[in-house]
Parts: sequence; C-alpha cells; structure tokens
Amino acid sequence: MSDTAKLIYNGKELELPVIEGSEGEKAIDIGQLRAKLGLITLDPGYGNTGACKSNITFIDGDKGILRHRGIPIEQLAEKSRFVEVAWLLIFGRLPKRDELDRFSARLTANSPIHEDFRHHFDGFPVNAPPMAIQSAMISTLACFHQEFLQLDSHEAFEEVAARLLSKVRTIAAYSYRRSIGRPVIYPDPQLKYVTNFLHMMFSMPYKQYIVEPEVEQALNRILVLHADHEQNCSTSTVRTVGSSRANLFASAAAGVSALWGPLHGGANVEVLEQLESIHKGGLTAQQAIDMAKDKSKNFRLMGFGHRIYKNFDPRAKILKESAESVLNKLGVHDPLLDIAMGLEQIALKDSYFVERKLYPNVDFYSGIIMRAIGIPVNMFTVMFSIGRMPGWIAQWKEQHDDKDGRIVRPRQIYTGPTLTDYTPMDKR
Ligand code: CMC
Repeated sequence: MSDTAKLIYNGKELELPVIEGSEGEKAIDIGQLRAKLGLITLDPGYGNTGACKSNITFIDGDKGILRHRGIPIEQLAEKSRFVEVAWLLIFGRLPKRDELDRFSARLTANSPIHEDFRHHFDGFPVNAPPMAIQSAMISTLACFHQEFLQLDSHEAFEEVAARLLSKVRTIAAYSYRRSIGRPVIYPDPQLKYVTNFLHMMFSMPYKQYIVEPEVEQALNRILVLHADHEQNCSTSTVRTVGSSRANLFASAAAGVSALWGPLHGGANVEVLEQLESIHKGGLTAQQAIDMAKDKSKNFRLMGFGHRIYKNFDPRAKILKESAESVLNKLGVHDPLLDIAMGLEQIALKDSYFVERKLYPNVDFYSGIIMRAIGIPVNMFTVMFSIGRMPGWIAQWKEQHDDKDGRIVRPRQIYTGPTLTDYTPMDKR
C-alpha cells in the first residue's frame, strides 16, 4: 500500500499521496490541495518545496553527500575532467570514447565567435561588471544562432549544448581582455577546454602563455566541482525561464543573472574581499568570527553556511586540499589562505556556528586557488558560470522534455489593501 499523509481542515479530510525518490527522500504531493480544500502552501525561499522530480544530481545535506547521475563528487573530482562531467550531466551517463571525442570536437569547432558578435564587446564600458557582459552576451547568442531557438532533434540539442558550453568560455575570456585593454586572443583548436580558456585569458599575440599542468588541473577541478548542484537559485531560474518554453540561450542568460548575487555565486568574490579586508585591517580570525556572530553588525562570514548542507560541503573539503597543494606546487605563500584556515578552525568549534550548522561552502577556498592561478577577483563569479553551464543545460533539457512539465507559476497570499476606490488627483 502506498504511503499517504492526512490533512484535516474545516472538518474536511484530504488524503495526500507521499512520493519517494530513489534515495528514499519523501515528499507530500499537494497537487489536489487547492482544488479539494481551497488552500495553498506558503513557503518563502522554498526551503520545504520540491519544485520538480529530477534524476540529475543527488544531495544529502545532512551527510555532506553530492552525486551526479549517482557518481560521488569525490570520484569525479579525482578521476574525471570537466568536459566528461558535462557530458555525464547533460546526457545522463558517462560517455563512451567515441561519444566524448565527438563532443570534444564539437566544442573545439564552436570555440570561435562570430566577428560581428565580437564587435558587441566594444559597446560595453571598459569597467563594466563581467557578469553583466556574460549574461548579455549569452542572451545575444540567440541572435547569431537562431536555428536553435526551437529544438526538433537530439542532434540539434547536442549541437546547441556544445555551442553554449564552448562559447561561454570565449565570451568570458574576451570580456576580461577588453577590461584590461588587451587584444583578444582567438581560441587555439589544438588546445583542450581548460588550457584553451587560459590561453585566451593570458596569452599575448607575440607570446604564448605556458599553462602549468598544476594550474590546468586546479582549474579543471574547480569547474568540475561547480558543474551542478540541483535546484539552487540560478538553476531554478533557468528551469523557471525554460518552463515558458524560452530557448536555451535566454534561459542560461537568466541563470547568470541569478548567479551574480552575493548570497549565491557572487559569494566567491565576497569571500576574497572579506579575507583581504581582514588581512589589511589587521583583524584576528577570532575578531572576524565575533563580528559575524554579532547581529547588530550586518556582517556575515562569507563562504560559510548553506541552505542544504548542514554538514561539510563536500566540494569545500576537496577545494581546501586543492588550495594547499596548488599553492605549494606553485610556490605561492598566500596569507589569505592562513586567515581562511584560521577562520575555519575557530568556526568549527564555536557554538554559534555549530548550533546553526554553518560549515565552509564551495566558495570559501575556490577564490584562493583562482587568485593563485592569476584570475582576477572580478572574474570569479564568471568562472562559476562557466562551471555551472553543464548543470543549467542538463536541467533545462530535463524540464523541456518533462511530459508533465507545466509553466512555473507560484501563487501568493495577498496582504495588500482590500477593495479601494480610485481617488481623483485633486482629492488626494
Ligand atoms: N555568517 C554568520 N551567520 C550566518 C551565516 C554566515 N555566513 N550564514 C547563516 N548565518 C546565520 C543567520 O544569521 C541565521 O541566524 P539566526 O538563526 O540567528 O537568525 C542562521 O545562520 C540561518 O541563516 P539563513 O540566512 O536563514 O540561512 P539560509 O539557508 O537562508 O542561507 C546562505 C544560506 C548560504 C545564503 C547563508 O548561509 C549565507 O548568507 N552565507 C554567506 C554567503 C555565502 O557564502 N553564499 C554561498 C553559498 S554556497 C554557493 C552557492 O550556492 O552559490
């Protein structure tokens, strides 16, 4: 017999089906609630609301588990590469050799951008925020690839997925080059995904940037760790926009905008700025922790806390090790890493953080690694958007193919004035 929950309201009784996911998570299906009892649910921030069924990513926030298509993130971080993880997320399983080769070839073929599209970069102020450019340019891709605004075959989807995944990195590198007044560097078809990105970021027309293997591995790992995270703010945005049947470019551009905020992807910038200000201000780690606990201060410890993880964010654990090893290999001593480790050490024992289950999240250590690689702080969230693109594409497609999928349209509880007559201007 299937599980149900009973709701009694105003003398009426409603039996609600309880559905169970493949990892034993349970949810009450309230689909009949309004029709039968005239009620809706109220859940600001959707902390208790499942918006969809999904078979892409599983998170158990209490145990600190993250898996893509069933595979633990620790295994993917150690054994896989970003392009392979992208394929896994988008197409549902690990690719065979020929499938991966075909996808990689598509990425290479699509790495250049149309010359007219390139001229759009000149229209932005030099000091424009890179996330604004990222979102605008991804949206503009729809003008240059109109044949993909409606997808009618698997082949077309594979092609548009590759175009977006490939061009997003070219767009990011070009916006950085323009912001520092350097000529754009065209992608090199001989180079792999991450190396090609670093080439476009740091080479000069007269001097090739030599990518150290440690740097390539570190960045590859950062992208892998950001590739998907189920129904977070930006992914929910992508799915919401996609639910109106908007095309993939428009939906992904909306995802970039959602990611920009400091409580989401923008936190990686805030973490670095906060560590820098602690360093420059000569604050001790304990003083910074005390400020974060003081509610009158409006100061949060950035890179700490997570809506879902009430245990270590598994990505933060991997990145902490990566940060130490990358800095060692590159011979960089960064005082900000020492401060970060000091903050973590104190917070993990402090009752305020322990009681609220606030642990370091993915953004806490990623910035220190990117800084060591030479990526400027204002590009950190852009890096997140490159990493998250496979997840957005996979989630958009899942939503697109869902036969039961409906346009996302939440309800509300109205709390404004009741019926009020219009007052003419001279009577107000
Ligand atoms: N520093 C100090 N106190 C905190 C922090 C923090 N970083 N995070 C949460 N709290 C406190 C908060 O003040 C509240 O305390 P109280 O119960 O006394 O009012 C309690 O912990 C619960 O916080 P919340 O804001 O209700 O939790 P949430 O689930 O709505 O927010 C969060 C999650 C990630 C937005 C929040 O922890 C935060 O603002 N963290 C700092 C920003 C950050 O690192 N964001 C990156 C998230 S991971 C990557 C991503 O998703 O992009």
